[in-house]
Amino acid sequence: MLQTQDLTIRFGGHVAVNAVSCNFAPGTLTAIVGPNGAGKTTYFNLISGQLRASAGTVHLQGQDLTALSPSARTRAGLGRAFQLTNLFPHLTVLENVRLAVQATQAGRHLRGLNLWSICSDHTALSAAARAIVEQVALQDKSGQPVASLSHGDQRKLEVALLMALDPLVYMFDEPTAGMSADEAPVILNLIRALKQDKRKTILLVEHKMDVVRELADRIIVLHNGSLVADGAPAQVIALPVVQEAYLGVATPAPETLEAA
Ligand SMILES: Nc1ncnc2c1ncn2[C@@H]1O[C@H](COP(=O)(O)OP(=O)(O)O)[C@@H](O)[C@H]1O
Ligand SMILES: [Mg+2]
Repeated sequence: MLQTQDLTIRFGGHVAVNAVSCNFAPGTLTAIVGPNGAGKTTYFNLISGQLRASAGTVHLQGQDLTALSPSARTRAGLGRAFQLTNLFPHLTVLENVRLAVQATQAGRHLRGLNLWSICSDHTALSAAARAIVEQVALQDKSGQPVASLSHGDQRKLEVALLMALDPLVYMFDEPTAGMSADEAPVILNLIRALKQDKRKTILLVEHKMDVVRELADRIIVLHNGSLVADGAPAQVIALPVVQEAYLGVATPAPETLEAA
């Protein structure tokens, strides 16, 4: 499905992602973990095309995406959460989601040269948009301009727009960062629901190890830009590099010991 081969990027002398080779299969959720600065977001940027690789390739379903623009990669089936700059801030939540659904449908129809159905089914588009807005629990805010949303609601809207794309590969980079404790479960439940669709490949960068343990079928660990571990969650979580980075097991602070 999705494959990176020797994917590498250098910033000056610094190798931020170093020859990462990895396959991601449909029906699996892979968590990507590693300390701050390990290269997780940069790896996503290389896959989605926001950054050009210094070396290596990205393939999706056998198609070489390495030379393609981010939007061409999106059309090929890669789904990365929209940045809010892609929104229409003065349009409502529902209007933004409907435009995203419409753009996706229009693109598919155009490729199938089925021009008639593009504009014929406004009602169906609205219904699809409304269903997505409900899935991300924004139905009470569906009539608000997106510029007025709280940070947590903006993150939910990003996921809604990603769902409107209906991609083959979902890429989530710390999707609950900055969300309150009562907002985060909406997003995590959505990811859990997406996992049920065995045609989809999901990549999740996440710091919270309880979330990773519950959702991931597989964990890969990046460290200084290199892939240093890859395996089943229980195995990987038990590794010293993960224990140190996330649980402080090898280097407990003296204060913590005293407090305990
Ligand atoms: N555009 C850039 N220019 C220079 N250095 C960058 C750029 N993007 C990321 N880096 C560097 O690459 C490394 C990996 O960063 P990042 O991928 O954001 O880590 P993570 O997401 O794992 O916290 C860091 O050292 C960061 O400073
Ligand atoms: Mg990051």
